[in-house]
Amino acid sequence: MSTYERRSHRPRPRSERLGAMNETPTRVYAEIDLDAVRANVRALRARAPRAQLMAVVKADAYGHGAIRCARAAQDAGATWLGTATPEEALALRAAGIGGPILCWLWTPGGPWQAAVEADLDISVSGIWALDEVRKAALAAGRTARVQLKADTGLGRGGCQPADWTELVGAAVAAQAEGTVKITGVWSHFACADEPGHPSIALQLAAFRDMLAHAEQEGVEPEVRHIANSPATLTLPESHFDLVRCGLAVYGVSPAPELGTARELGLRPAMTLKASVALVKTVPAGHGVSYGHHYVTEAETNLALIPAGYADGIPRHASGTGPVSVGGKIRRVAGRVAMDQFVVDLGDDLVRAGDEAVLFGPGEHGEPTAEDWAQAAHTIAYEIVTRIGGRVPRVYLGG
Ligand SMILES: Cc1ncc(COP(=O)(O)O)c(C=O)c1O
Repeated sequence: MSTYERRSHRPRPRSERLGAMNETPTRVYAEIDLDAVRANVRALRARAPRAQLMAVVKADAYGHGAIRCARAAQDAGATWLGTATPEEALALRAAGIGGPILCWLWTPGGPWQAAVEADLDISVSGIWALDEVRKAALAAGRTARVQLKADTGLGRGGCQPADWTELVGAAVAAQAEGTVKITGVWSHFACADEPGHPSIALQLAAFRDMLAHAEQEGVEPEVRHIANSPATLTLPESHFDLVRCGLAVYGVSPAPELGTARELGLRPAMTLKASVALVKTVPAGHGVSYGHHYVTEAETNLALIPAGYADGIPRHASGTGPVSVGGKIRRVAGRVAMDQFVVDLGDDLVRAGDEAVLFGPGEHGEPTAEDWAQAAHTIAYEIVTRIGGRVPRVYLGG
């Protein structure tokens, strides 16, 4: 390796560096393209033209930022918002976000009264929850909006068919006394990301039966819904009055079998970038990172990428995670550590301060979240959602 190449390890001057602008973080940051969020909402609405669209913004909008993404989704015609926890929904209200918001993950002693006062739609899967809502409505002196959740086969949340008659009866009685208004009947798929899976037809049939029973008992829901992103994209008969889209709103494909984001007409909203922190030459036979699972074959240049599992970079992608640095895709060399990992540049000239793109839309040859999912043996949902609180978000398309 020449003296010239060794000298090239000096950091790129600040003025030349991407990310040198004062407002742009330099270590690692996630660019969030709100125009992409809007475009995805419009694309999904076109896929489900007779249904309303709920943008699911739980888990900080799958890591993209709940408040900014909720507003962008509303701009593009999402008429509902959805969260898992009531706290997430209350945070949206605290930010001044209006419109119907459904939250579905409740525990005894939760913020029932605050939810009623904030006019949230509260999901109820059992009698105990209905009792909590009734008490909260009486305390608040107003009617609670309640959606009855049916377990049509997922075997997670929701009311079992055997208990449905009792729950519907109790909810209808509560509606008659004025404590609750039943605004929705809903359910969730187990295998919508596997088109043709036998459970899909069984769940749809069970949903129709449970819905029919509720309607016979006098329930007139504003919205009946079961479709998540994959069902919205592949199963029009599941659209009913409302589709609940999470991952697709952020432009990520729910499963490789369904096609890439581009094939699905979606634009990935998150690009995860870092600045190369250090470049150095090491001799042949040099171990790299904890455990020395990577050993250099020849003298080579190593680049330190200052992001690790504390930032949500999966440790399971040790040795495999793809990163675009200096115009080429490299693989994580050795283990991903808490705050950093290393890539082997070979003889290529890259300098500290150069940009590394971990994933993005893929339009410029950079890896995608789906590529990281494959590298880490997980799903793209987890890749974007786990990008941690230590990683600043930089919004484009404000
Ligand atoms: C109840 C419920 N509805 C809808 C969604 C959105 O799913 P997706 O991100 O596949 O659109 C989720 C997310 O897991 C969910 O838990």
